[in-house]
Formats: sequence, C-alpha cells, structure tokens
Amino acid sequence: MLIAQISDPHVREPGQRVLGAIKTSRYLSSAVEVLNRLNPCPDLVLISGDATDKGTPSEYAALAALLEPLEPPWFLIPGNHDDRRAMYEAFPDRAPLNADGFIQYVIEDFPVRLIGLDTLIPGESRGELCEERLAWLDSRLDERPGRPTLIFMHHPPFATGIAHMDAIGLTSAAALEAIIRDHPNVERIICGHVHRTIFRRFAGTIASCCPSVAHQVALDLRDDAPSAFVMEPPGYHLHLWREGELITHQAMLGDYSGPYPFHEGGDLIDE
Ligand SMILES: [Fe+2]
Repeated sequence: MLIAQISDPHVREPGQRVLGAIKTSRYLSSAVEVLNRLNPCPDLVLISGDATDKGTPSEYAALAALLEPLEPPWFLIPGNHDDRRAMYEAFPDRAPLNADGFIQYVIEDFPVRLIGLDTLIPGESRGELCEERLAWLDSRLDERPGRPTLIFMHHPPFATGIAHMDAIGLTSAAALEAIIRDHPNVERIICGHVHRTIFRRFAGTIASCCPSVAHQVALDLRDDAPSAFVMEPPGYHLHLWREGELITHQAMLGDYSGPYPFHEGGDLIDE
C-alpha cells in the first residue's frame, strides 16, 4: 500500500496570488502531474489541510478543477485557511461530515486504516480537538484495536521550535496524547500546517509534518523569529506500507537532473 501525502496547496481563484507573490495553482498542477507519473502509483492521496487560502466556494471550485486530473483516489481534511461548510459542499464524498458536523471520517478499504481529523476553529489560525472530536476518535480507535492505523490532521500535536507557528498550534495535544497512548496500533499521525518536514515522537507513535506543495515556512529556530516564508523546493511525502511496517519518504517537487547509474558493466563508476 502506498499513501501519497500533499499539504497546504493554498489554492486561490485563477490569476490570484497568495501573499501577493505565490501562484499556488501552478504549484498544485505540477504536483498533480508528478503524482500521476509515479510508478508504482499511490493507492490514494491525502491532502492534509489548507487546501484553499480563503475558504471561499470559488476557491473550492478552482481546487476541484486542479484536482480533477489526479488519478488516484484523494481525500481532504480542513486546515485553518479552509471553511468547513464550503469544503464539505464542494467535496461531500472526499471531505465527509460526521454526525457531529466535523470533517472526520474513516477509510477502511486498505491494509492501513485511515482516520481523518478536523482541527479547525472557524476564524482562528490555531487548531483544536474539542471533547466531541476526541470522543469520536476514541470510539473509532476502540472499534479496531488490532488494525494498523494512520491518523491525518492539519495541526501537528507538538511544538516545532518555530515560534510563530507554535503560537498557532494545536491546543488540545495533551488530551489527544492520552487517547493515542491507549491505542498502540496507531502507526503515524501525519499533519501539515508548518510547511516543512518535521518528525517527533508523540504518545508512543511518530507524528510528522509534510512540506507544502507551494511555499515553505522559513526554518528559523530563534525565539523571536519573524513569520516568513521561503521558496525552497516544495515537496510531498510517500508512506509505504510494506511487510507490516510503515516507511516514510520525502520527495521534492521540481525538475532535477538524473537519475544516473551508480554502476557500469558491474563496476562502480569512479571517474
Ligand atoms: Fe498552510
């Protein structure tokens, strides 16, 4: 099983730029082309939030057009730049609401069980998992205690050391930690939000952030680091389930030379 994760495309309406500079639609289009060329083909693509920049219906329409050519099945969860209702109305099957009205759902069709969580607080940049959302997660995890499970959500449940992003982090990490500790079959918690690749041990599992397919957050670990973005190469993650283990690869998006062979005629090339 191969899971592709892309994050934070921040799609705007055609011709509009994010932060006055970034043509995010082009970046997502390039990512779709790359994902469609992957061999082996991913079984599905998870988009871990900030699918749009302003959360308007017209931005979701633009997103739908950009993702229409994407060949593997794909699913969405909301980030702080999204609008829950507009996302659901645009993609009722790819971002379904649960009975409590949150975009939280389970995908059961694969060897790894996938659980999407909704950390959105309307009108705010920080995220939370309130009691209702956490109770829903606890119940879903209790249903299948033996199955390897991957949770995907927007806000990571840990501080990253990038101060301005930590100031808009997840407020309910301690309560989530208690639930995850009771469910050691959780292989991963994969997130977005920070626009960088970051890993941390969390509640006995591994939690990670995925880079954006467009702009990245500047890597600045000073306490007073200003909020800033950089146009480092965008990227994505591939989570490979193989022989009972989940292995995560980071890949960069862009045109680079190669691949070149290491060997010629059975010998290592040395000149
Ligand atoms: Fe974002």
